[in-house]
Amino acid sequence: MNKLLVSLVLSLGVAGSAHALQGDAAAGEGKVAICTACHGADGNSMMPNWPKLAGQGERYLLKQLMDIKSGARVVPEMTGMLDNLNEQDLADIAAHYSSQTLVGGVADPELVERGEAIYRGGNLKTGLPACTGCHSPTGQGNDPAGYPQLAGQHADYTAKQLTDFREGNRTNDGDAMVMRTIAERLSNKDIQAVSQYIQGLRSGADL
Ligand code: HEC
Ligand code: HEC
Repeated sequence: MNKLLVSLVLSLGVAGSAHALQGDAAAGEGKVAICTACHGADGNSMMPNWPKLAGQGERYLLKQLMDIKSGARVVPEMTGMLDNLNEQDLADIAAHYSSQTLVGGVADPELVERGEAIYRGGNLKTGLPACTGCHSPTGQGNDPAGYPQLAGQHADYTAKQLTDFREGNRTNDGDAMVMRTIAERLSNKDIQAVSQYIQGLRSGADL
């Protein structure tokens, strides 16, 4: 990992330590009726551009919900939907989705090799760090550190996020701009390949 990214990793811990709300998964289940149309009754959405939420880190989910509610992350499809939910509601919803079981996907075999090389090795020439360092070798992420689970996510959704980070359309990755800095080093082909690889990642299976 290069020096820039080491300092990014170190500064991130400080940036992301604001909230310690306890979520109640059972209470959360009663608050997601409107969400299931897009994110699925079991947290596994059917549409490739709607993210799966099942099994995602609780802390990451809560942060995204607060960011979407405040407008720090713009999700037009969810406009107004979080307005009447307070922080406790959002924490309950985060706990609910986090407790659900992810249904994984399959990678395009044509792109797997390039995708795996990026995910596991990064790119020394462009200073791109391996994704494993933060999102873990299995793609489970590291929730206490605020690093989301990626494994099994729809490739279309993942590719859109990476493109949005690169183009500055998603800017809620903190003052250290971790994901914006990383996405700048990815070409469109890299994004397609690594997103396909991630879609096929299974905890423990691809090590
Ligand atoms: C009309 C469809 C729709 C509905 C209904 C909806 N969402 Fe979403 N949601 C989306 C889309 C699309 C995105 C991703 C947008 C993007 O590309 O960044 C998203 C993103 C999210 C994310 C961020 C996921 C991640 O991995 O970063 C969370 C959390 C979330 N939604 C929770 C909810 C909750 C809770 C509700 C109900 C209160 C809800 N959504 C209702 C479409 C929907
Ligand atoms: C230095 C740590 C770090 C590294 C290395 C890293 N990420 Fe991230 N990533 C993060 C953090 C932190 C977030 C969450 C930002 C936020 O809170 O919105 C994130 C978010 C993401 C998201 C959005 C997930 C979602 O559900 O919306 C994707 C996709 C992603 N990273 C892909 C990658 C890929 C691909 C690589 C390797 C090329 C990579 N990341 C390397 C820290 C990292």
